[in-house]
Amino acid sequence: MFKFATLLALASLIPAFVEAATSPIYGQCGGTGWTGATTCATGSTCVYSNPYYSQCLPGAANPTTTTTTTTTRPTTTTTTTTPGGGTTTTTTSAPGTTSTPDAGNPFVGYQLYLSPYYAAEVQAAAGNITDATQKAKALSVANIPTFTWFDVIAKTSQLGTYLADASSKQKSSGQKYIVQIVVYDLPDRDCAAAASNGEFTIANNGLANYETYIDQLVAQIKQYPDVRVVAVIEPDSLANLVTNLSVAKCSNAQTAYKAGVTYAMQQLNKVGVYMYLDAGHAGWLGWPANLTPAAQLFASLYKSAGSPTFVRGLATNVANYNALTAATPDPITQGNSNYDESHYINALGPMLSSQGFPAHFIVDQGRAGVQNIRQQWGDWCNVAGAGFGTRPTTSTGNSLIDAIVWVKPGGECDGTSDTSAARYDYHCGLSDALQPAPEAGTWFQAYFAALVKNANPSL
Ligand code: BGC
Repeated sequence: MFKFATLLALASLIPAFVEAATSPIYGQCGGTGWTGATTCATGSTCVYSNPYYSQCLPGAANPTTTTTTTTTRPTTTTTTTTPGGGTTTTTTSAPGTTSTPDAGNPFVGYQLYLSPYYAAEVQAAAGNITDATQKAKALSVANIPTFTWFDVIAKTSQLGTYLADASSKQKSSGQKYIVQIVVYDLPDRDCAAAASNGEFTIANNGLANYETYIDQLVAQIKQYPDVRVVAVIEPDSLANLVTNLSVAKCSNAQTAYKAGVTYAMQQLNKVGVYMYLDAGHAGWLGWPANLTPAAQLFASLYKSAGSPTFVRGLATNVANYNALTAATPDPITQGNSNYDESHYINALGPMLSSQGFPAHFIVDQGRAGVQNIRQQWGDWCNVAGAGFGTRPTTSTGNSLIDAIVWVKPGGECDGTSDTSAARYDYHCGLSDALQPAPEAGTWFQAYFAALVKNANPSL
């Protein structure tokens, strides 16, 4: 969406009779209702994102599109690599197939790679802020590492670009890098809500398409065994299976979600991706009645996947607003003893351990800087008054927590407030949701500006 804002800003500078023939890199190039340029600047390709939005992404077209079932995994024998940088060493075993994870916290000793995609969004957004102080603060967000979401198969080819970049950065700097990704394309995605409904449906070959999506991520990761990848696996999916099986779309999706997450764990494990399965947040699975069923689901899925060694634990609070450690319980937490992420993690951790699941956590604090802003704990959409939160760090003060991270790229929307949109979800029309809001995943300039202004610690 920032691209849209950028284009509007540019359009006001261009004489009316000059039509922009191409969209810039990261510009919008298609989608329902889009009347701007549909071709992209040299060096970029128009990539379908969702029915409402296509975007110019750097590089050539993705070799495959959404529905092919052809496996595109490369053979595993021919890649040459340069582990550790410097000399060229031919890897004779399958490249990327690291079989043993490092003991301990995978974040320690690594730099977090800055997503060029998010940096470009932020820089464009800062360009639209007039106040000099706020603009400088906004620009500084481009230097804070945030996960990159692979929310459609068309984006998977971008991962190779980031990995190549991270690989060359680590060779030139001598520092080791982590590329942080979110795996997010299950069929019938977001089964209990509407705002983030995805591109694949179970009824239309969705599970096979999802496997192709995973294969395409794996194929890229395999080519850069020197770069560490950390992944959050499928926000909301398993949490929905714990609490929302009364929703028909969720009960119908149960088998496919389990199969998809199992496939993701097994395939990403083969290329040494450190994985954290999404575990909702304190106000969801953190209710005492939900803890045991949650621990059971995570453990049983993990075991039936063959206990993949690179599954490191769980990710909590993804795209949510809960404090890691709240000074006092927010009144909306209604007596839940697990009123913040620390309490939730401390309660769930031992249950996971006793069931044989690795009890390590990462916690999203990207938008959790301001507390007591929601009317209900379940409000998740573009909550007004939110601010950027604690910066990513491994100083977590809790041995169960590997890292505080920023998973949701702050400024990207949670869901549209347009009641006529196919993906309208009522949460995005609540009085504590900032409006008007564009489609999920697209840029929400007013929201970003508020996150900057309300940041705590300040930027
Ligand atoms: C959207 C995705 C987007 C992600 C990160 C989700 O709510 O559905 O399209 O990539 O947020 O902004």
